[in-house]
Amino acid sequence: MATPHIEAEPGDYADVVLMPGDPLRAKYIAENFLDDAVQVNGVRNCLGFTGTYKGHRISVQASGMGIPSLSIYTNELATIYGVKTIIRVGSCGGMAAGVKLRDVLLASGSTTDSAVVTNTFGHGVHYAPLANFELLDTAYHVAKEQGVDVKVGDIFAADRFYNDELDMKKLADYGVLGTEMESAGLYLLGAKLGFRALSILTVSDLIFGEGKTTSEEREKTFNDMITIALETAIA
Ligand code: HPA
Repeated sequence: MATPHIEAEPGDYADVVLMPGDPLRAKYIAENFLDDAVQVNGVRNCLGFTGTYKGHRISVQASGMGIPSLSIYTNELATIYGVKTIIRVGSCGGMAAGVKLRDVLLASGSTTDSAVVTNTFGHGVHYAPLANFELLDTAYHVAKEQGVDVKVGDIFAADRFYNDELDMKKLADYGVLGTEMESAGLYLLGAKLGFRALSILTVSDLIFGEGKTTSEEREKTFNDMITIALETAIA
């Protein structure tokens, strides 16, 4: 029962899926964090794996970049493969004052300029896509226990990576912590299709500031984020 984008058989995915944007991140997570991981998808190199973490069955599936790509995979995982929980593990550009490189952010909600959300409702409705609170609450406490500097708030899911028309400063002044390109779509589909959704993000760059991280620092932060996601998944 393959789909146009996923060649896995029914039952190949666990109930819980970690979802990075980058397929090679999916492979890294499977190889470094899961036991007995097997590849379940390779269509378009948008890699998916299933293995176990501390004895619990967990999958990892890449989303690709942007709401349209993520929506394809989340739709098929939820409706065809019966996935119940999707935790995005991604990167973002830091925006609000006080957000630093390598911070871990939990998206309690996701503002967006995406027509996908507007067009779902029409009639001037600006739906607020929100995280599943149970996952959010668990991830927050897991992060605190791990001593990770975690911040919780709004994430702007941009329709375009390159956009010089948007007032990003105004969004930051209204408390938006960071920007990426997927979370609002994930939360919208979680609400529509009934799966639990959460985005956990590391700050890889700063929209208004300068700064660089070494590859070791990025790896450490990424690993912290994956551990938070996995411990949340099995809690
Ligand atoms: N913009 C959009 N997506 C991103 C960014 C950004 O600055 N950084 C990481 N993902």
